[in-house]
Amino acid sequence: MPFTQVPSLLAATLLFIAVLAHPEPQHPKCRFSPLYTQSSILKNPDPFISSFLYWEGKFHANNISYNTLNGMTYDGTLIDPTTGIATIKHPFSAASKESLQIMLYTHVLAGSSDAARFLSPHDEKKAPEVAFNIVSLKLETYLGFNETFPGFGGFIPWFLADEKEIQPTADWVNRVPALDNGELLWAVYGLVHVLETSHDQRYRALAKNWQNWLDYTKSTVGKVFYNGGGRVCAVTTLNQSLHVNSPHQNYSCEGSGVLNDPYEGELFTWWLYFFGGLSRREKNLLWEVKRPQLVSVEYSMGDIGPITVQKGFWFSSHEQWKILEMPYTDVDLVKRLFYNAERVRTCNSVVTKVPGLYASVNNSTDPTTGDVIGYISAAGIPSISNQTKQELDVVTPYGVFPTVYFDKAVGLAWWKDMADGKKMQNPYGSSESARIDGTATSSFVSWDSKITTVIAVLGGVGNFVREKMKQDGIYKEFISVTRREHEAVFKNLKEEKVKLCLPNTKIPDRGLEDYTSCN
Ligand SMILES: *[C@@H]1O[C@H](CO)[C@@H](O)[C@H](O)[C@H]1NC(C)=O
Ligand SMILES: *[C@@H]1O[C@H](CO)[C@@H](O)[C@H](O)[C@H]1NC(C)=O
Ligand SMILES: *[C@@H]1O[C@H](CO)[C@@H](O)[C@H](O)[C@H]1NC(C)=O
Ligand SMILES: *[C@@H]1O[C@H](CO)[C@@H](O)[C@H](O)[C@H]1NC(C)=O
Ligand SMILES: *[C@@H]1O[C@H](CO)[C@@H](O)[C@H](O)[C@H]1NC(C)=O
Ligand SMILES: *[C@@H]1O[C@H](CO)[C@@H](O)[C@H](O)[C@H]1NC(C)=O
Ligand SMILES: *[C@@H]1O[C@H](CO)[C@@H](O)[C@H](O)[C@H]1NC(C)=O
Repeated sequence: MPFTQVPSLLAATLLFIAVLAHPEPQHPKCRFSPLYTQSSILKNPDPFISSFLYWEGKFHANNISYNTLNGMTYDGTLIDPTTGIATIKHPFSAASKESLQIMLYTHVLAGSSDAARFLSPHDEKKAPEVAFNIVSLKLETYLGFNETFPGFGGFIPWFLADEKEIQPTADWVNRVPALDNGELLWAVYGLVHVLETSHDQRYRALAKNWQNWLDYTKSTVGKVFYNGGGRVCAVTTLNQSLHVNSPHQNYSCEGSGVLNDPYEGELFTWWLYFFGGLSRREKNLLWEVKRPQLVSVEYSMGDIGPITVQKGFWFSSHEQWKILEMPYTDVDLVKRLFYNAERVRTCNSVVTKVPGLYASVNNSTDPTTGDVIGYISAAGIPSISNQTKQELDVVTPYGVFPTVYFDKAVGLAWWKDMADGKKMQNPYGSSESARIDGTATSSFVSWDSKITTVIAVLGGVGNFVREKMKQDGIYKEFISVTRREHEAVFKNLKEEKVKLCLPNTKIPDRGLEDYTSCN
């Protein structure tokens, strides 16, 4: 044997040993989560991530999470409580789900192999083509919708997606929400950056068309959503058949609802701030209206704390959505503050002995009707929230997404803790939610409860959005306003040396059976 082959033989042997130690099969088992130990994930999360992406990717299927006819998302689908196979889908969706889908494709189009593993695990090279075709079709659908319903000014209400031409759901005729559209707009902004900086001429052509749509929303956002005095309508009432500039068109805020939250709703505020054509005075008023909601609180429980965090509304993980989309963590104070939130989120569940993390989520499914019992908005950490009355009997895998954003290994250790519970994995990846007493789960799958975590694993789209903001000349102002608002409230962050906590309790086995098509 020539001497030169020895190192490669040694390398092959080491590789073989490494593969044995960290199985990373092409086709992982549907019920892969319990096969991993927490310590193996902490040592090297990559094999677990590979299995996670493979199975969450099964949600990305026609007639399950989207419609191949028009490229639009479906909200989610109920699954059979015994087999786990999809039964009745939600034919509707919203701009928030669209934002998750678009962020996913953005990573695929930027060449991420993790995103390709999600989208096209059997032939990762095909993933960009799949994503390109869907985002092309989706734009046609948006433009068709705008032609048919010009009153929305390009924005998207909750819609029915099961026919080629989408239309508002019955309860969103002549109405449109701001928050979800803010999530959508910055996702498209990141997408456009990736497309317009591509070498592929087709990508750049598509970028122009999407940019056109974005530009159109800039021209309408003030009219549709701005109510004067720094106030933004949370929901606007309008006449969807009339053109934006029709003399009979009448945009008005629904009820007294003002979008002024310092959480994910802020994405919309930024769009209006930068592109809505407001005067300097009006722009400052936007922040004056929002300012009272940005509050500093200290968390203490048992031996933990005090740890300084931003006061939550419920402290649901959902409230952190904005860090997935804009480069907030470029401001060091914000990064430290949001990291503190994950110290609190994870350690609170440990000291209160909860087997998972809290976020607003769909409740368990009713064993007789098969439908979800209701939506639990009030799920988070009451002691550091505006809303102190909460329902703390249900946890959800997507509670981990902001933790994952900062620390994949610790975040996924929490994801595993919940996914290990009976029925918490199904043929489309993770299930919606579980009761912490182990007596019930939700036989439902949705973009919010699954793909937020996928996007966090991919790092969010802040890196793409940052570059385009620089090009548009708005990045510095984003940083200085964000810094100004936070420095005024958070003077001295406490307990930045506390480690993120790891789960040490499990959802009890109370006799539920895993789905038969996932065991
Ligand atoms: C799509 O899903 C629904 C249930 O959500 C089912 O009734 C229908 O048969 C499916 N259609 C196709 C073409 O698979
Ligand atoms: C949306 O529709 C209006 C009214 O027909 C039109 O003026 C506008 O150009 C459309 N926007 C886009 C992006 O096509
Ligand atoms: C919207 O405008 C159309 C055309 O003027 C009119 O027929 C319709 O009644 C209006 N809808 C509402 C809800 O006002
Ligand atoms: C516009 O709509 C609001 C609420 O629907 C209504 O109170 C107001 O009178 C309308 N204004 C005009 C000019 O039609
Ligand atoms: C809960 O259900 C609603 C309505 O079907 C859906 O929009 C949402 O994404 C689901 N999940 C979460 C975590 O909100
Ligand atoms: C959630 O379901 C439980 C029963 O499993 C019920 O007691 C609780 O009231 C429900 N909460 C909501 C908000 O639907
Ligand atoms: C919740 O927020 C509202 C609006 O800022 C404020 O008026 C109220 O005092 C807050 N309540 C608590 C308990 O923080």
